Amino acid sequence: MEQAAAIKALIQLGQLPTPEKIRELTSGLEHEEPALLGLKPAESKIKVEHKDSSVEVLQHFEWKPKKIKLQDFANYFRKRYEFMKNLLMSRAETENATSISKLSSMQGKTTIVAMISDIRKLPTGTVKIKLEDLSGTTDAIISVKNAELAKKIPFLAPDEVLAFKGSVGRGIFFVDDIIWPDIPIKQRQLCPDEVYSVFTGDIHSGSNMFLPKEFEKFIQWLKGDYGDEKMKNIAKKTKYIFVLGDLIDGVGIYPGQESELRVKDATKQYELIAKYFSEIPEDKNIIVIPGNHDAMRLCEPQPTVPTDLAESLYKLPNVINVSNPAMLKLHKQDNYPGFDVLMYHGYSFDHFVDTVEALRLAGGYDAPDKIWEFLLKRRHLAPTYGATLALPMDPDPLTIRQVPDMVASGHIHKAKMGIYKNVLSVSCSCWQSRTTFQERVGHRPDPAIIPVYGLHDGKAMMMEFM
Ligand SMILES: [Fe+2]
Ligand SMILES: [Fe+2]
Repeated sequence: MEQAAAIKALIQLGQLPTPEKIRELTSGLEHEEPALLGLKPAESKIKVEHKDSSVEVLQHFEWKPKKIKLQDFANYFRKRYEFMKNLLMSRAETENATSISKLSSMQGKTTIVAMISDIRKLPTGTVKIKLEDLSGTTDAIISVKNAELAKKIPFLAPDEVLAFKGSVGRGIFFVDDIIWPDIPIKQRQLCPDEVYSVFTGDIHSGSNMFLPKEFEKFIQWLKGDYGDEKMKNIAKKTKYIFVLGDLIDGVGIYPGQESELRVKDATKQYELIAKYFSEIPEDKNIIVIPGNHDAMRLCEPQPTVPTDLAESLYKLPNVINVSNPAMLKLHKQDNYPGFDVLMYHGYSFDHFVDTVEALRLAGGYDAPDKIWEFLLKRRHLAPTYGATLALPMDPDPLTIRQVPDMVASGHIHKAKMGIYKNVLSVSCSCWQSRTTFQERVGHRPDPAIIPVYGLHDGKAMMMEFM
């Protein structure tokens, strides 16, 4: 465990993982590195209450400079392992689990909880993996001869922590079954008030490809000036608008972007957004997280959209800026426990669509519900280290500790809703037509579609503004 963490930490810090450095790190010696700007989890005090709506921010991460030591990376992996192990050990199937160091003295069937540090497919289809726990490492074999087990192979991802049932022979662990940390079935209550939440994001203001006419229709609808009577009633009773990042197209995000920008200044791009948002009636809470196109670093958790460049947005009374990711509770009342939403822009999705065979087969970018299912089963927003840039914070902001009622993302510009163990997933659409980059990577965006969810009836629908 510690060795793999040390190697990854050194690589992330741009250092060669020499045996000396790894030894130094894993032996617990403090190794001071040049200061990096870090984030500290913040005890959230954000709570907005109106006559007929309320938003409580349950998880939010604030920007606090902190010196990060190499040891922080080792601790980060250790804590993640311990959290997942606790989840897995609470399951009946993992009874009598042992540690890797005790395997050599074991006879017959046993269970271990371990992190996958390496996956190799042999020409026969059989998979050889390297497993680590806090006591040691072992090689393990997953045979395709067991049909049920073979179905699980395409779902495996490096660095995830799983329970493996099997037996030891000739120094190798032969896997019979694999168990993911997973979520329990979520119990959800319906809200006594007729109230709706809507999901948007990936506005990409400033881009040549931004769709102003369609976006204006959406704003008109929220104002009650667009659509039939049914649509107008939903607009009136919409109290929560989730904006899942990439508000602006940004500046200098990718080579040659300048030629694709209509507005080449991030402040002006945010001003354009603020102008639209200022038209939205103030009884609607607009909850905003940043994305990879917003004017800030990519490292997650990302703090709120920058106060200096997005000042125009901060002036609006009904905009609530939170970090990416963030967790919120909506509409809590005496007779209703509230509705918890985990917001995440979705930057790690690219990595998993690209590297996890089962997700590619399930539809890749066209199946964000399957990506969410994959992440919920792993209780982590980026189970493979490097899937997104992550800081070694404690607690790990990307771990899904508390199971929400709904998970919401953007980034892949695809409107889709799904359900897994009664947790709803929503992937929002965008307000930008297909870019050359998206064509190259196989994105097929669904612009100008708004997923809508009724907290009172548990029904979801899509509204089009093309
Ligand atoms: Fe985007
Ligand atoms: Fe994005």
